[in-house]
Amino acid sequence: MESLCNRYKEYFKIGASVNTETAITDQKILLQHFNSITFENEIKFVNIQPNQNEFDFSNSDKLVEFALANKLQVRGHTLIWHAQLPDWVNKDRLPTRTELLKVMENHICTIVDRYKDSIFIWDVVNEILADDGSLKNTIWREIIGDDYIERAFWFAHDANPKAKLFYNEYNCEITGKRESVVEFYNKAKKQNIPLDGIGLQGHFGIYYPTADMFRDVFKTYAKTDMRLEITEMDMSMFRYEDHRTDLKQPTKEMIETQAKSYGEFFALFREYKDLIDGVTFWGVSDRYTWLDDFPVTRKNWPLIFDEFNHPKKAYDAIMNW
Ligand code: XIL
Repeated sequence: MESLCNRYKEYFKIGASVNTETAITDQKILLQHFNSITFENEIKFVNIQPNQNEFDFSNSDKLVEFALANKLQVRGHTLIWHAQLPDWVNKDRLPTRTELLKVMENHICTIVDRYKDSIFIWDVVNEILADDGSLKNTIWREIIGDDYIERAFWFAHDANPKAKLFYNEYNCEITGKRESVVEFYNKAKKQNIPLDGIGLQGHFGIYYPTADMFRDVFKTYAKTDMRLEITEMDMSMFRYEDHRTDLKQPTKEMIETQAKSYGEFFALFREYKDLIDGVTFWGVSDRYTWLDDFPVTRKNWPLIFDEFNHPKKAYDAIMNW
């Protein structure tokens, strides 16, 4: 079987998110088809700094070693986010700008510095905008101010000037949000903030959004010099509002619709290959996906390998063009 990353070697890197478990259980297809990995949760704040100034690198170190041994690029995900924060990061304990900035600096610099010889791409900030395009109100923004974002980029840049620094966002196909991301990028560039590109998460569904809707994102972003990565692609079998929990297997129609949409999205990515450095799936195979627990607990099948790690129709659709 031809390898997926080999098929796309003239286009962009092909990545998958892994955790300490799937890096072992799915190792065979991971090493065969992917040349980049993202750690699903191991670098997130709650896991890597569970108590103030007590860092736990045990799991991230393990995965970095695994990546280096197998020549996989690592995307560092993620430094500053409002979710998956430990309890000690709260407004009562850290009520002043000075204190929280210190926490942020220590967090970013410690991690980026530890992996300065192994991780060269970072999602510095994650999900900073609401769907209407306004800045999300998070503890970072409330206590530090709007400039928490540029400060985060500078801390990361100072810790490793060679690293590519990304801002990672979801739902960028939404009109308004799409434009706000560009505005943010252009403003940051004017201020010389060390921002290299935008990560488009890509948590899609088989019915929405269509590749055609997403084309407008590339059209708009192509007018800038930003680098792009699809950072978390998957394609739920369910509509967002469909919370059914009784489906044991995807229907034939679902499998085919998914394959068609994956095929169309990858055709679009190939068309815009000059802007795109990588396409990462949020998971390796349907054996494990975060969508088994989100937005409700039920089996989902959003990836291109099935529960037995065999290639699905979606795999064929992106391999054969
Ligand atoms: C998800 C993980 O996959 C889950 O295991 C965890 O419980 C919650 O976070 N956007 C992101 C990712 O940027 O970090 C999220 O990952 C999925 C949505």
